Amino acid sequence: MIIAIDGPSGAGKSTVAKLLSKKLNFEYIDTGAMYRALAYKAYINSIKISEKTVERMLCNTKIDYFNNSIFLDDENVENYIRNDNISIIASNISKFQIVRKKMVDLQRLIAKNKNVVMDGRDIGTVVFPNADYKFFITASMEIRAKRRYEELKEKGISVTYDKVLDDIKARDENDANRKISPLKKADDAILIDTTNLDIQEAVNKIISIALEG
Ligand code: DC
Repeated sequence: MIIAIDGPSGAGKSTVAKLLSKKLNFEYIDTGAMYRALAYKAYINSIKISEKTVERMLCNTKIDYFNNSIFLDDENVENYIRNDNISIIASNISKFQIVRKKMVDLQRLIAKNKNVVMDGRDIGTVVFPNADYKFFITASMEIRAKRRYEELKEKGISVTYDKVLDDIKARDENDANRKISPLKKADDAILIDTTNLDIQEAVNKIISIALEG
């Protein structure tokens, strides 16, 4: 069984997907981590992003995902890929066809013969158009920026709300307007707006739909 969870940055997708996978005893697969791992490789090697340079890098890159962790060339890079520099690079490289093909093939392979909750941008539209359940989780841009701002503040990272809002806007623009597999709600996905819901309420809502359905 496959549960696809898509939506923009900061809507609470991964938190919801993780809780849901625990509750259902399904495997959780974070597809954003795959794009982030590749972005991290570009970042540490100071690679100037273009289709050519990314294609070259991709030829010598191994990406794996298991035990809820992302591996880049056999190294667990889970702890290095969540900062804002990497977010922007991940969003930029994810527009290339060659990158998307590699990630989509990997995602399909990982989910073979398993029960999974997979989150991303194109899971319900491209990776698994026949998923058993599809959810599209969203929230207003301002509330997404506010949540991200609070999270960074809690971690002791100094940043302004306006900078966080600008970053979220830039990523939304990139992800929703790229030519290949843009961020888009599948016609048959159930829309969950978390602007006025906390995470637990969102999970409860999804679980009741998944279990009742
Ligand atoms: O979900 P995330 O913020 O970790 O994803 C990082 C970037 O990766 C996101 O800005 C766009 C890209 N991405 C994608 O294009 N397709 C996916 N299925 C998941 C992520």
